[in-house]
Amino acid sequence: MEERSHQFKRKQEQNRIRLSKKGGELSQLDLAIILAAGEGTRMKSARPKVLHQIAGRSLIAHVLAATSSLRPRETVVVVGAGREQVTEHIAGIDPKIKTEFQEVRGGTGHATRIALHGGPSTGTVLVCAGDTPLLTAQTLQEFFAHHCEKKAAASVLTADLSQPFGYGRIVRSGSEISAIVEERDATPSQKSITEINSGVYIFDIAHLVDALKKVTSDNSQKEEYLTDVVSLLVSEKKKVAAYKVDDETEILGINDRSQLAECASYMRDRINRALQISGVSILDPDSTWVDLTAEIDSDVTIHPGSAIVGNTKIGTGSTIGPRTTLIDCAVEAGAEIIESYCVASEVGKGAKVGPFTHLRAGTKLASDSRAGSFVEIKNSSIGEGSKVPHLSYVGDATIGRESNIGAATIFVNYDGVTKHETIVGDHVRIGSDSMLVAPVTIGDGAYTAAGSVITENVPAGALGLGRSKQVNILGWVLRKRRGTKSAEAAEKKGNNE
Ligand code: UD1
Ligand code: CA
Repeated sequence: MEERSHQFKRKQEQNRIRLSKKGGELSQLDLAIILAAGEGTRMKSARPKVLHQIAGRSLIAHVLAATSSLRPRETVVVVGAGREQVTEHIAGIDPKIKTEFQEVRGGTGHATRIALHGGPSTGTVLVCAGDTPLLTAQTLQEFFAHHCEKKAAASVLTADLSQPFGYGRIVRSGSEISAIVEERDATPSQKSITEINSGVYIFDIAHLVDALKKVTSDNSQKEEYLTDVVSLLVSEKKKVAAYKVDDETEILGINDRSQLAECASYMRDRINRALQISGVSILDPDSTWVDLTAEIDSDVTIHPGSAIVGNTKIGTGSTIGPRTTLIDCAVEAGAEIIESYCVASEVGKGAKVGPFTHLRAGTKLASDSRAGSFVEIKNSSIGEGSKVPHLSYVGDATIGRESNIGAATIFVNYDGVTKHETIVGDHVRIGSDSMLVAPVTIGDGAYTAAGSVITENVPAGALGLGRSKQVNILGWVLRKRRGTKSAEAAEKKGNNE
């Protein structure tokens, strides 16, 4: 019920914004600044904070995806700690994004000043932090529309928090915002304010540049606070607007691993809800982790404990899980993958995998093929309708159509130095417990006898028999194991010559 009214409120808001956009189009943002120079000490990590991931994407990539929805003419990321790694990562996302280096941590005002240097001197700028991955494009668009509608010199994105501790508080005079006060600089009565500063702002660039010249570091942290721009503009009778987010999880920032996990779980819920609405059955959303980069068609069913990672695609009607991990896999329609771990593999239409199967990179299962329990496959293609049902290792092999690989068959692909290839034709029957010692070819329609070690090619239609002929030594137990239960049992049967 609460959710419904929430959605309704959102709809109203969207309508209002749509109406406020004259000509239907949101005006373009001139500049986006992302502050990401902080140390991130509380992560206790060799990796810079903004490069930690949730839902398969770095924190900074989440923020850049949201800000890019405002189509900024230019984007600048302020880097500091781990600058080489962060700069390289950002270049990989979009080489047009600039980075500016903040050598000493002089505060958010100082960092913004560095980012503005050499950039446009008029127009509109969005400023936000690089560690708030839950911020949505939709909220930013609404915030920007609100800023334009109010014709404000500055706008602050705010939120009401039941536990505002640690955040800058929004001080209002009447209904208008008059200042932002940091927790450590706040009076007891200011500390009781629940409306907080999210750290996301939109400014008129000329006004911001001007105000930043006047910002001092006269505060408890001896830093230039970007937040001081608000009271400076208000004192100059400039319009400062505030826009409150509906969903306060959007503004959550990450400082330590527990907050990383908390934000990851909110993102998981968001992704799973969107998938459910698009027609995917997720039986246990709390234990199902889908990366943003994955694509899942409608009528797919995902059982508990599964992770759909990277660029995995799953076709309609497939069943995944329980406890299945798919990393960069392409699964076609109607496939079934149970209790399995699959990496960079293709699973064809109607193919069945698992339970307990390991598909390693380069596995291609054609349609209606099968890889069963305790089977490991690597760099191999299994043809249409072929089966590797039990306890096998298949490496560097090409298997044709409708062939059956008997239980416990090993493709012996490694001679200790080099990997070799095995080719198995169509309609082949490999006997249980065969060793196919590569390089070797088994022709179409051929058989191998159970327990064979096959070191020579088997021609089409032949039976490859690679084991010694069985000999029965009659009466052996009675002679050599006299007095045992076996001997007793054998004696009862007679016929022990
Ligand atoms: C800031 C706000 C606070 C707000 C909170 C929201 C100020 C003074 N305070 O506080 O009102 O409630 O964000 O999360 O702005 N950064 C730099 N260079 C610096 C300092 C910071 O790049 O010299 C970056 C950080 O990496 C971070 C962002 O700016 O991404 C915010 O800095 P942080 O230290 O987290 O500010 P808060 O104290 O949390
Ligand atoms: Ca912070």
